[in-house]
Amino acid sequence: MNVGVAGLRFGLSWAQVFNAYYETNLIAICDSDPEKLGEARAQLGVESCCESFNALLEDERIEAIALFTPAPLHAEQSIQAIRAGKHVLCAVPAVMDMEEARSLVRVASQSDRTYMMAENWIYEPTVVRAHELYGDGALGDIYYAEAEYYHGLQALRRHPDGSPTWRNSLQPLLYPTHGTSPYLYLTGDRFTEVMGFTASGRAERMDGYEADWIQTAMFRTENGGLFRLSNSFENVHSPSHFLSFHGDEGSFETGRFSEARTVCNYSQGGDKQLIREVCKHPDLSDFDERLGRGHGKTTIQIVMNFVEAIQKGIQPSVDLMSALDMTLPGIAGLQSVASGSWESVPDPRTWV
Ligand SMILES: NC(=O)c1ccc[n+]([C@@H]2O[C@H](COP(=O)([O-])OP(=O)(O)OC[C@H]3O[C@@H](n4cnc5c(N)ncnc54)[C@H](O)[C@@H]3O)[C@@H](O)[C@H]2O)c1
Repeated sequence: MNVGVAGLRFGLSWAQVFNAYYETNLIAICDSDPEKLGEARAQLGVESCCESFNALLEDERIEAIALFTPAPLHAEQSIQAIRAGKHVLCAVPAVMDMEEARSLVRVASQSDRTYMMAENWIYEPTVVRAHELYGDGALGDIYYAEAEYYHGLQALRRHPDGSPTWRNSLQPLLYPTHGTSPYLYLTGDRFTEVMGFTASGRAERMDGYEADWIQTAMFRTENGGLFRLSNSFENVHSPSHFLSFHGDEGSFETGRFSEARTVCNYSQGGDKQLIREVCKHPDLSDFDERLGRGHGKTTIQIVMNFVEAIQKGIQPSVDLMSALDMTLPGIAGLQSVASGSWESVPDPRTWV
């Protein structure tokens, strides 16, 4: 399968995987920044390198486009790519507002192209383990769950010339999918209503930052459960994820900080005894160990799932409706922050 990758900062590691995978040919790369493009060209040795996204769309050899451009471009570029007949693998979040979501549903639902959102958390080893336990009935019915994502990203808020990047004004709830996806993936539930809250440090500490320091949202779910999401991109806290799932037969927590992906503590089957486990990725030894650094092992699994979905004509692990179930709750949460009242989370299936 011939692939083009757009956006070559985070996207560079995705381009490396597409370049290495025997099922895909990385035939084009694109970045509007000539310097980034030059660096990637030197590393990847790809012949077709373009600064304009349109050039990717117009290249008839390209079957699939992987989008790792800034989040405010995702919806528009996904729509353009689908309209150009390309399959789409899009970085999180899928969209930034409800109107974009409706437009994307309208276009994707009239196309036979595959759309997948590249959400890594459902592939993290702790979440895979929670999924197994939940599937085996060891946790029973989950009535309460939590997700925290505290990730100060100061270094990515300014371009070299000092102008703000999209991250300088990114409200934390607009980046909800690392927190929402594990619960939704486990349970198949859906968030229906949300109440959002926000807080920031002192004004003199804002230093030009244009978003809230923390946003927390409480969600009611279709299954009658409650879910708390807390997101922050400005804090004095070492980067950390945390997930917990409280079921009526058992409960499950990830570790914190660097252990969130690999360490879990749980009780099961109505027994409160605490079990601690270290969880690992599946064997990916077909790929060079260097590709597995950082997010690499989840990147490999997402690419494999995307390609398999296209080849077999099956749903990818995070198709458009799942992507929106993971993304829209944050948008509705932000609406609730503004309105100060509960807001409903739309079901994108009703837009088709
Ligand atoms: N764990 C994760 O899932 C994860 C981690 C990091 C980033 N992301 C997502 O990946 C995407 C990329 O993140 P990033 O940190 O690399 O962002 P970034 O803003 O640092 O880099 C984006 C790149 O896209 C290029 N670009 C901008 N406009 C373009 C256009 N019109 N056409 C082609 N290229 C263009 C920029 O020059 C830049 O090199 C974001 O949407 C982000 O939300 C996801």
